Amino acid sequence: MFVLVVNRFDGSKNYQSRYELPEERVQGQTLLAVLQYIKQNIDPTLNFTSHCRSAICGACAVKVNESAVLACDTNIETLFKSYETSTLTLSPLANFPVISDLVVNWDEALEHLGRIHPTIVPKKESNTEDGCVQSQTDLQRVLPAWDCILCGICASQCTRYSQSRNDYLEPFAFAHAWRTAFDSRNADPLFSCKAAVENGLWRCVHCSICMHVCPKAINVAEDIVDLRKLILEHRRPPRH
Ligand code: SF4
Ligand code: SF4
Ligand code: FES
Repeated sequence: MFVLVVNRFDGSKNYQSRYELPEERVQGQTLLAVLQYIKQNIDPTLNFTSHCRSAICGACAVKVNESAVLACDTNIETLFKSYETSTLTLSPLANFPVISDLVVNWDEALEHLGRIHPTIVPKKESNTEDGCVQSQTDLQRVLPAWDCILCGICASQCTRYSQSRNDYLEPFAFAHAWRTAFDSRNADPLFSCKAAVENGLWRCVHCSICMHVCPKAINVAEDIVDLRKLILEHRRPPRH
């Protein structure tokens, strides 16, 4: 018998629910499939979010014990084995306000992403007939950051953001600043950097946890280093 303990919230109080699962229910199953089984067969009041079931929408991220994962991309049998236990505890992502059970509110996180202005300032040639042509090499450079599915796992696990949410941003916001700053079509690479600096770019402690937990292997810690270097390269020489 396997057990999932879920840390829940009903809008006013926190409590736990315990779900017992026979071995055949977890064999070869994803965590999301098991959550759906619980909702359909054991407890219809359990709330969680999901959509694509293919690791591309980012909706199903939850915490298992202390580590955030994508529920649709995580084999629950392997999880039990890796923790060497028959009981796992599920919680909503950390560093997000909880709406209900495993469902978190993204309003603040999206407002933070907006602060970065993750858009490019088009070069003049964008208005010409040929448009602004980007070479394959230049495209390949920024392509990894486009893989971000806004799952929130890096925000849940970030050392610095967990310490203080008032003077730092969810790591993915810096990944999107990097994506725009290093896009060869961008006429003003520093456009997103300014907002990144104002929102904590120099406060990252380089623990690299964001890189290790990201389901898309986005290296935000390295992106932050790149942004810092870019800013230093464009620094005005001191006046005498
Ligand atoms: S490297 Fe920086 S952004 Fe990434 S988890 Fe650590 S403190 Fe957060
Ligand atoms: S950077 Fe990775 S962990 Fe963070 S939101 Fe994007 S995909 Fe998720
Ligand atoms: S349901 Fe879309 S990423 Fe898991």
